[in-house]
Amino acid sequence: MHDFPAFSFSTVAHLVSELGAANRLGEHIALRFPGAKRALLVTDPGFLKTGLVDAPAASLRTAGIDVCIYSNVVADPPEHIILEAVAAARQHGTDIVIGLGGGSSMDVAKLIAVLAGGEQEIGAIYGIGNVRGTRLPLVQIPTTAGTGSEVTNIAIVTTGATTKMGVVAPQLYADMALLDAELTLGLPPLVTAATGIDAMVHAIEAYTSRHKKNPLSDILARKALGLLSANLVPACQDGGNLAARQAMLLGAMLAGQAFSNAPVAAVHALAYPIGGTFHVPHGLSNSLVLPHVLRFNLPAAAGLYAELAEIVVPQASGSVEARAEALLIAMQQIAAITGIEQTLQQVGIKESDLDQLADDAMLQTRLLGNNPRTLTRDDARAIYAAAL
Ligand SMILES: NC(=O)c1ccc[n+]([C@@H]2O[C@H](COP(=O)([O-])OP(=O)(O)OC[C@H]3O[C@@H](n4cnc5c(N)ncnc54)[C@H](O)[C@@H]3O)[C@@H](O)[C@H]2O)c1
Ligand SMILES: [Fe+2]
Repeated sequence: MHDFPAFSFSTVAHLVSELGAANRLGEHIALRFPGAKRALLVTDPGFLKTGLVDAPAASLRTAGIDVCIYSNVVADPPEHIILEAVAAARQHGTDIVIGLGGGSSMDVAKLIAVLAGGEQEIGAIYGIGNVRGTRLPLVQIPTTAGTGSEVTNIAIVTTGATTKMGVVAPQLYADMALLDAELTLGLPPLVTAATGIDAMVHAIEAYTSRHKKNPLSDILARKALGLLSANLVPACQDGGNLAARQAMLLGAMLAGQAFSNAPVAAVHALAYPIGGTFHVPHGLSNSLVLPHVLRFNLPAAAGLYAELAEIVVPQASGSVEARAEALLIAMQQIAAITGIEQTLQQVGIKESDLDQLADDAMLQTRLLGNNPRTLTRDDARAIYAAAL
């Protein structure tokens, strides 16, 4: 008999996973949001350059919806970009916001939907549960299989040279998320790898989350990890593999649903300072510390890691510890095969940087509190040293 503690679970109400769905965006929107007349498509210059914005934009126009494209999003979006985007939405008279890009574009889209239609200043909504009232209708279309931001209730903003702040609120759950692998076909192999490993970390950390792990997040994390571990290398080796790409998108979304309800922990806590100080992309930062945090967590989480090993390396056998170790090695091998950087030194971090990184990681108290094993400042320093 399992004794299930009380839990709650939230996610996006309407999900579409369908190849080619972005080409029929206008139909999807007209069906779900019959009143929508003026759409703001939120993206970044890199994705705009792929030309993949054209077909969804055209299909919106065919459906009688006016389209304004905001394409100034940058990775790890700073506050001034959010404010500029909100001004663009107001100027345009936007009545529906569509995030079309990676985590950065989708996070910006969430904040536009909240701020453009409301009275609150951005400074008032940082933290947990500080958004008041409703927002504009919001649709999210990921073009990386990574953050899962299309189904999470969090947006991350860069607020200073090395600092980030989060907005966490139920209003940030979109009304609809649409997964179409055709949008991810041009994603370079190394970006595919890093963003895909970010998604795998979401699944692993949700599965071992200390406080809010629950039966639904477990099912999602396990399914996500199965899809992601089976398809990441194929998607990196043949970017045109549509089946692998769609499976990656689905896996990343399921992992997003899992960690939005059973939050991530020390891997993310130690990754954030690497991204913030050294401008290393989010997925790569996670990948660099992942094996070392997993090893640190073994005394507390070997049982759960062994359960996940059955999914990632079903051929693993032996004791709980041996299977947990097999998961750790499998994750390292996946990173190695894809060719992404594997040490902090490869991204320009030196021994003399580690104290600052450890200090900064300890500020991530919300994330550290979810870790299966309590982590001190010395532990953080030792993990960075191992990752160097
Ligand atoms: N809200 C959440 O739940 C959540 C979770 C984790 C991370 N994040 C945030 O998400 C951001 C990272 O998102 P990301 O990893 O998806 O990367 P990203 O959105 O920053 O994009 C990275 C790069 O990939 C390019 N790109 C995106 N899609 C492409 C495509 N299909 N083809 C070619 N190029 C493409 C972009 O132009 C950009 O240069 C960070 O700001 C991070 O803080 C949010
Ligand atoms: Fe992440």
